[in-house]
Amino acid sequence: MSSDILGYAGKRVVIMGCFSGTGEACARQLVEMGAEVHGADIKPSPVNLASFTHVDLLDPASIEAGVRSIGGEIDAVFNVSGLPQTFPAEDVVTVNFMGIRYWTECWLPHIRAGGAIATVSSLAGMAWLSRQPLLAEFMAHTDFAEGRKWYTANAEVAGDPYALAKEALNTWTQKLAPELIKRDIRINCTMPSPIDTPMLNDFKKVAGDAVLAAFAKARGRFSSAREQALPLILLNSDAANFISGVCLPVDAGLAGGLATGVLDLPTMIAEAAAEQA
Ligand SMILES: NC(=O)c1ccc[n+]([C@@H]2O[C@H](COP(=O)([O-])OP(=O)(O)OC[C@H]3O[C@@H](n4cnc5c(N)ncnc54)[C@H](O)[C@@H]3O)[C@@H](O)[C@H]2O)c1
Repeated sequence: MSSDILGYAGKRVVIMGCFSGTGEACARQLVEMGAEVHGADIKPSPVNLASFTHVDLLDPASIEAGVRSIGGEIDAVFNVSGLPQTFPAEDVVTVNFMGIRYWTECWLPHIRAGGAIATVSSLAGMAWLSRQPLLAEFMAHTDFAEGRKWYTANAEVAGDPYALAKEALNTWTQKLAPELIKRDIRINCTMPSPIDTPMLNDFKKVAGDAVLAAFAKARGRFSSAREQALPLILLNSDAANFISGVCLPVDAGLAGGLATGVLDLPTMIAEAAAEQA
């Protein structure tokens, strides 16, 4: 048995969202592990990649051109890009779900057997199983303009565009897994609690400092970009060969604690607010 149990040496991988934060950390680590790393984003990556391609997830033509330009067969897709709710709601649902889904679908014919896809979702998408009929309506729209129109018309019932998009990512991951495994391709996603990246300040503006600080209480601090990048690398590695269709909380026990009642969010928010007063 090889000691390279993650098996990235010589693998050809693609990372969407390698300009900053989790995607940058993920790209940096994969380069170090000997993978051939091709990055895409709307802003250039600081990492020394095999190639960087400008791709805007708001634009299907840009997505198609990006896949064509990188070209060839690949072993793994890392989907890390995302927008917080400080951006227009229609852009949030487009980048965070429709864009990521279309980008992945464009890659599907080019993913080798044994390959894998890992997407960053969020704990904000935790309620995905309880909103399936609504999500099915949104997800039925593959045309970006139609999906955006659907959100505008249904904003009141759909609620937070960020949560909706992450719930859709979880649902899509689990629905696609049984089909893809027939081709020996796996698909998973992570659900991080707040991460200490540029996006964190946007979330603080939206939800307030106390709510974000409450989410950090499970561990006493926010996760780092690297602590979120490594689980993505694990999920797409040979070591996770029998793992597919999983939405994995990467949250130091927060989701499990809340689900079992060991942790209580209103109490944690009150404590965090008192500490900040
Ligand atoms: N930061 C957090 O607290 C937190 C918590 C849970 C989940 N997440 C998720 O983690 C992922 C990574 O975010 P991060 O925290 O590293 O923040 P980040 O802001 O550092 O990274 C987001 C990346 O998305 C890219 N991006 C934005 N618009 C794009 C577009 N139109 N096309 C292509 N790329 C685009 C940005 O350029 C950037 O590289 C996102 O999916 C985010 O939703 C973040």
